[in-house]
Amino acid sequence: MKDILVFNGVSKTFPGVRALEDVSFSIAKGEIHTIAGENGAGKSTLMKILSGWYPPSSGEILFKGKRISTSNPEAALSMGISTVYQELMLCENMTVVENIYLGRELSSRKGIDWKAMHRHARKLLDSFGVEISTRTLVRNLPIAQRQIVEIAKAINMKTEILILDEPTSSLTINETRVLFENLRRFRETGMSIIFISHRLDEVFEITDRISVLRDGRYLGTFAAAETTPRDIISLIAGKELLQEIVGTEKLRTGSDAEIALEVRGLARGKYFQDVSFSLRRGELLGIYGLQGAGRTELMQTLFGMYLPDAGEVFLDGKAIRLRSPREAIRKGFALIPEDRRKEGLFSNMDVKDNIAVIHDRRITVASFVQNRKILAIAREYVEKLSIKVTSPFQRVRNLSGGNQQKVIIGRSLSTSPRILIMDEPTRGIDVGAKAEIYKILRKLKGEEGKAILIVSSELEEVVAECDRVLVMFQGRVSGVLSGAQITREGVLHLAFGGSISSN
Ligand SMILES: Nc1ncnc2c1ncn2[C@@H]1O[C@H](COP(=O)(O)OP(=O)(O)OP(=O)(O)O)[C@@H](O)[C@H]1O
Ligand SMILES: [Mg+2]
Repeated sequence: MKDILVFNGVSKTFPGVRALEDVSFSIAKGEIHTIAGENGAGKSTLMKILSGWYPPSSGEILFKGKRISTSNPEAALSMGISTVYQELMLCENMTVVENIYLGRELSSRKGIDWKAMHRHARKLLDSFGVEISTRTLVRNLPIAQRQIVEIAKAINMKTEILILDEPTSSLTINETRVLFENLRRFRETGMSIIFISHRLDEVFEITDRISVLRDGRYLGTFAAAETTPRDIISLIAGKELLQEIVGTEKLRTGSDAEIALEVRGLARGKYFQDVSFSLRRGELLGIYGLQGAGRTELMQTLFGMYLPDAGEVFLDGKAIRLRSPREAIRKGFALIPEDRRKEGLFSNMDVKDNIAVIHDRRITVASFVQNRKILAIAREYVEKLSIKVTSPFQRVRNLSGGNQQKVIIGRSLSTSPRILIMDEPTRGIDVGAKAEIYKILRKLKGEEGKAILIVSSELEEVVAECDRVLVMFQGRVSGVLSGAQITREGVLHLAFGGSISSN
């Protein structure tokens, strides 16, 4: 294979952090090359240097044999290096077509050729199998569809290197499949794809080679056919990771624990209809479904963000009607939202305040004691979730994507809610921390008897961790599985609209 791109001794230092240290390896023409590593390992930093976001502190990058000295993303783009960043970069108040053609509008003699742009954008989106109107404002799209628009935007005739930094983090199994078909098609044409994902099972499905970074250092490149997920995991984490993610003792069906939350016939608009289920103390209930199944909307409604059109919710046997998230929090609910960057993070504040912000009003003692307490809470969760920070006073803005996620998760866990709702709890989180999060969840439900609801698109995780799984299909409950019924096949069967057979 011919090398199209060579990283040559690339280093990058930020104040107090050595993000990359002497990284050298190469990318071949027409390959899919994964970069793997823990949260904060330096993956995004390397990609940002490649795409002209910022220059390296030392070292160089050769593209087709020539040193590239781009110091702006436009220049990289015009050379054929397109990037889908981990943080989506779409303009929310513009339409889909405006975003796709931003800065490279098509024109005819009469000016901007909107007709042609709509037509091309339509074709592009169709090839990704999504039905999004090109006239929709991006802010009205769910996060998965935004991700697809962003990918569609990155593809054009000139793209020789396509960088995808966690493109599948909010895609469900179907959308990922379509994306992968497209990536294989691009590879056929000779395009090189640099792929970043924490989901190693899907990495192995698509990638030709994998390069591993740990703490900013390059550890090696491996052909996917000659290595295993296990080998890569132990390289990433720097130790043999215990198989903690697999297998937890399932709550027996018909458990006699009290019912903490009961939902009867809940409905809201086109999103979901006639949803009924119960959640016991000490239970972890998973909600699985394909994109558009209504999962996120259901969670948001339970959290008081919207009023349902019909149905009832009972908390500890008492009917409740939540009119706002504030009321939900007061009643002991906590929600970790799907789009955490937008909905949960105060990027200009430090790590300590981001974790402990909720405790402010609860700790009503003298401020000196209060500050100490806040710091202690923050330190506890930085440690528990191994959040990579220089200190609790570091600004959240400067953390890696995965570490920002962990900050928000830490915040919700630290409030010790009675009903914990998590939307995609481990999206973008590395394998080690994933195991850690599930350990905490097990403790919350086991020792503290909390009731936990998670929405997850990671099938493995749902199967391994949940006591029961409620599967949704097009806004309705297609079935609830428990105990030994919870298998990959069983969950997928329901997710694609099947039903539980009655024999
Ligand atoms: N602008 C910045 N200022 C200061 N430190 C930064 C900045 N950007 C990244 N870092 C630090 O550099 C290190 C590498 O971050 P990077 O974003 O490259 O990690 P990553 O491998 O992409 O992780 P993740 O899987 O969480 O996305 C981290 O310790 C991060 O805190
Ligand atoms: Mg990153």
